[in-house]
Amino acid sequence: MNDNKNNIFAKLQLPNGKSIKLPILEGTVGPQVIDISSLYKETGMFTYDPGFTSTGSCESKITYIDGEKGMLLHRGYEIEYLATNSSYLETAYLLLYGNLPDKQKKEDFINAITTHTMLNEQISNFYKGFRDNAHPMAILCGVVGAMSAFYHDSTNIENKEERRIASYRLIAKMPTIAAMAYKFSIGQPFVYPSNKLNYSENFLNMLFSVPAEEYQINRVFADALDKILILHADHEQNASTSTVRLAGSSGANPFACISAGIASLWGPSHGGANEAVIKMLNEIENVKNIKQYVEKAKDKNDPFRLMGFGHRVYKNYDPRAKVLQKIAENVLKEEHKLENKLFDLAKELENIALHDSYFVEKKLYPNIDFYSGIILKAMGFPISLFTVIFAVARTVGWISHWNEMIEDKTSKIGRPRQLYIGEKPR
Ligand code: ACO
Repeated sequence: MNDNKNNIFAKLQLPNGKSIKLPILEGTVGPQVIDISSLYKETGMFTYDPGFTSTGSCESKITYIDGEKGMLLHRGYEIEYLATNSSYLETAYLLLYGNLPDKQKKEDFINAITTHTMLNEQISNFYKGFRDNAHPMAILCGVVGAMSAFYHDSTNIENKEERRIASYRLIAKMPTIAAMAYKFSIGQPFVYPSNKLNYSENFLNMLFSVPAEEYQINRVFADALDKILILHADHEQNASTSTVRLAGSSGANPFACISAGIASLWGPSHGGANEAVIKMLNEIENVKNIKQYVEKAKDKNDPFRLMGFGHRVYKNYDPRAKVLQKIAENVLKEEHKLENKLFDLAKELENIALHDSYFVEKKLYPNIDFYSGIILKAMGFPISLFTVIFAVARTVGWISHWNEMIEDKTSKIGRPRQLYIGEKPR
């Protein structure tokens, strides 16, 4: 707990002549924070901050973002370092436990996750209840929430060991659930997980193999997927993570909380943007149309926005988008005519927008969603699975924050207030 060690305060002058002192807290890095938790008790007033643009909702040791510099750290490690030097499961261990694993811990963790990938067989019955044209995100919300009804032995949130098992189950089973959603939607049989394969290879195998013939895992694709998972693993108090924390703050079980996070991620302003980028690029179609779309994005009377551009926190290039651009180059070296055309279009769009005064002044840069869809598309993922991949990757971030919140003795049920503008008593 940060206890205002330096004894510095902000003074708030109120219209009634009264003033109060509010403690200023310091994190390890990043801006100072004014602690307003005593404000209502002392003044009878609330703060007003729609969209929480100036509000810190908790203390956290997991992830740090410097939006001005375009820097993202997990437990102190730069995202570029992790994407180059670690695997998704090593990054997952880091997020969960605070340090990268040594050789033995890594082996034990990989073994534990690998041996939790199968689902209770009865869960497969859920899929038959969905329409075959259901969006896989809809299926993911439902099936992950339904896990609460199957894994009763890991829903006691007061028990650390049960929390650990629930966390491992979620990380391990999410690719299985996601792949089954895809297989159901295309009318193919479910493919069981294989313990011979690593996390990303197993995911590809469950998605794309069929019983009738042998499936060859493409090394470049498996590595690219692993890096995509690392890049999406966590991003501090974004909308879906805050949703998981808020749901969990009431004491709800982890499967229900993660299902709430998936619902929040689905929206096009958040994880749904990768899907929206491909739709936008297809609509732009040709380099010669870019200028017209950039003008549309700048027009206040037109709801169109450049998808994959802009970010609440980054006022600089999203460091994840930089890594993704390199991955895209690797994946597209193989023959992918259609996606190469989209990639060229995206690079030109980026180039034009980054030199346009509207985007420069508003500090709008490409975000993670700008290039991820192109890579996934080239690897054979249908557009409807893009946000699902994001959800699989982000599960470890959500569950790490959920665990951190439960272990934080100062955390309370989340309960924001409002500025009431409705009818007076009548
Ligand atoms: N295209 C055109 N103009 C934009 C864009 C964009 N992509 N993004 C922001 N702006 C403009 C806004 O119109 C606004 O202009 P104004 O100040 O004149 O009113 C200004 O830039 C600030 O934008 P806000 O919407 O106020 O910023 P906010 O922080 O609330 O929104 C968001 C951030 C939702 C990401 C926004 O930039 C956006 O809609 N981007 C497109 C969708 C997208 O790519 N989402 C993925 C985000 S990353 C992620 O979740 C993984």
